[in-house]
Amino acid sequence: MKRVLKWSGIVLGGLLGVVILAALGLLLLGGSRVNRSYNMPVEKLAIPTDAASVQRGQHLAEAVVGCAGCHGSNLAGDKVFEEGPIGRVYAPNITGGQGGVTGAYTDQDWVRAIRHGVSPSGDGLLIMPAEVYQNLSAEDLGAVIAYLKTVPPVDNQVPKPDIRPLGRILVALGAFGEVVPAQLVDHTAPLPGSVATGITTEYGRYLVSIAGCQACHGKELSGGQPPEPGSPFAPNLTPGGRLGGLSEQAFATLFRARGAVESEFMPWEEFAKMTDEEIGAIWRYLTSLPAKE
Ligand code: HEC
Ligand code: HEC
Repeated sequence: MKRVLKWSGIVLGGLLGVVILAALGLLLLGGSRVNRSYNMPVEKLAIPTDAASVQRGQHLAEAVVGCAGCHGSNLAGDKVFEEGPIGRVYAPNITGGQGGVTGAYTDQDWVRAIRHGVSPSGDGLLIMPAEVYQNLSAEDLGAVIAYLKTVPPVDNQVPKPDIRPLGRILVALGAFGEVVPAQLVDHTAPLPGSVATGITTEYGRYLVSIAGCQACHGKELSGGQPPEPGSPFAPNLTPGGRLGGLSEQAFATLFRARGAVESEFMPWEEFAKMTDEEIGAIWRYLTSLPAKE
């Protein structure tokens, strides 16, 4: 009896050891996936200062690329995620006020953060969707930065991101997908050229690429599970889905009506600020896609 106990003790102890080693391994792997550094050449972009560019940048920031969705309505920082043992991610204050991180930014620092997802010190930024913003044309990226430089300074400080041990293990297991979008960016791709505005398939394709619809609705827009924990499925937007046969008018009405009702998981409030031309172009593009089940 004693011998059996002894042996089972050794086996159990061994198993426990294996589990602890595995957890430690995952912890280290998760840590290395959270803390990544980058050192790549950053494009020198001349940032315009004229009123039309600032206005274009403001509209894109508010209605299409959605900086406020994470950084807060006045861009002074907001909580993105906080769950005790997993950790927290806050999007920082990006105004020039106290507690802001952009007070000493150069134009290149703006480009590095938005287009590459990397901080001035070379750290890969958590959750900051650079793989989407990489699609911004040189002109539109310049306009967005021109606007950001005119945003009124607000004093506000949010906590620094902190991914705790359980969070790191979950990251290592892939529970949140890629948490450092800089990993998904082609850092050598040239700045895209401009796409002419208008109710065209081409402009619609561009808007969809910079608004990040694919991040939730899937690569082919045929439906997908958004990365945010607890989100409902994002439906099929191709003509094979339930939007098939919807007229441009009905599509626009849907966009605007949904914008009036707060939705936690689809950024309707922001997209409802799109112009008729933008919504029309997106409709054109979506209806041009091959129908997917
Ligand atoms: C999905 C959420 C999300 C969206 C949308 C988003 N950001 Fe961020 N952003 C973050 C988070 C989170 C951080 C902090 C990451 C970190 O510190 O690791 C961040 C960091 C930054 C930083 C600071 C980099 C530094 O020096 O530390 C800048 C600048 C920035 N974002 C600009 C923007 C702009 C401009 C937009 C819109 C074009 C935008 N962000 C949209 C989540 C977001
Ligand atoms: C952060 C994730 C996310 C992003 C980004 C996103 N969607 Fe959605 N979308 C959802 C979810 C979740 C639903 C289903 C729940 C709802 O309707 O709010 C949805 C629903 C929809 C619907 C269906 C409405 C209906 O009632 O049938 C349309 C149309 C739509 N999205 C279009 C778009 C377009 C176009 C874009 C890009 C400009 C986009 N979405 C970006 C998550 C997202």
